[in-house]
Amino acid sequence: MPSTTDLPLLCPVCRKPLERRTTADAGQGKLVCPDGHSFDAARQGYFNLLVGKGTVFEADTADMVRARYDFLAAGHYRPLATAVAAAVVPCLPEERSAVLDAGTGTGHYLRAVLDQAAAQNRRQVAALGVDISKFALRRAARLNPEAVNLVWDVWQPLPLADNSVDAITVIFAPRNAAEFARVLRPGGALVVVTPRSGHLAAIAAAAGMLGIEEGKDARLAEAMGSHFDAETSTDVGIPLALTRPEAADLAYMGPAGHHLDRLDLTERLLAMPEPVRAEARFRLTVFRPRKAAAT
Ligand SMILES: C[S@@+](CC[C@H](N)C(=O)[O-])C[C@H]1O[C@@H](n2cnc3c(N)ncnc32)[C@H](O)[C@@H]1O
Ligand SMILES: [Zn+2]
Repeated sequence: MPSTTDLPLLCPVCRKPLERRTTADAGQGKLVCPDGHSFDAARQGYFNLLVGKGTVFEADTADMVRARYDFLAAGHYRPLATAVAAAVVPCLPEERSAVLDAGTGTGHYLRAVLDQAAAQNRRQVAALGVDISKFALRRAARLNPEAVNLVWDVWQPLPLADNSVDAITVIFAPRNAAEFARVLRPGGALVVVTPRSGHLAAIAAAAGMLGIEEGKDARLAEAMGSHFDAETSTDVGIPLALTRPEAADLAYMGPAGHHLDRLDLTERLLAMPEPVRAEARFRLTVFRPRKAAAT
């Protein structure tokens, strides 16, 4: 059972501290604030803090999440998970630490971070996974039972106290620079993974997906620039040789999955010889907060 003691969670309604209560009949328990706002755990163990508030953002569907889970579980992006963990773990203090995975999806990369942290004897890592898709969090809660997993919209104030986490990971997910700067401790690290130009170009062309345009890096630095400085940037390239169903999962699990019809997609990919070859091109950037300049 994960503890919230090292993660100062805040009530999304009144911003007072949320405490975890467990009762014999309440399964995974609930999060409760002093004003009596209360959030029950779902059967799978995650908490939905958006209840009654909703969000205007489009959450990943159950099908998109299944595609993502299967593709990642097959290990195709393992070099990226290794690179993320290698960037994050040295930023975690050895005694106790806290990490936030924003847009955690199925929790794949947070799992890699927690495993690597344990391998390096950092056992007291409090972890928080946040995503707007409850389908994603069902998977994440199963994969990372030691983490607190919350349905929340990262464009709204995060349900976390100021200066409360040592590292934040954002892997192909929205970046709320002001909120990340608020919850990150001074000296903490924000690790962002974005696709580079040419990412999955061969599959994008066949599937009718939009390619990644040039100039995204400049836009990322600009968007984060009010609160963060880029410290290091590492490119990770992964050559892929996939079956057609794997290529279809890959196309479907990204943002294009909101617009693609799975049958249509499968038909288009039939035109590609197997193995379907493509290169995944990522950039991993470590940002450090520029707190003094932001205030
Ligand atoms: C491309 S997926 C990446 C998921 C995960 N980081 C990974 O790499 O496997 C983007 C994720 O961001 C989530 N997301 C999109 N908008 C969001 C928002 N406003 N707040 C929280 N999560 C959001 C989606 O539900 C989805 O799980
Ligand atoms: Zn409250």
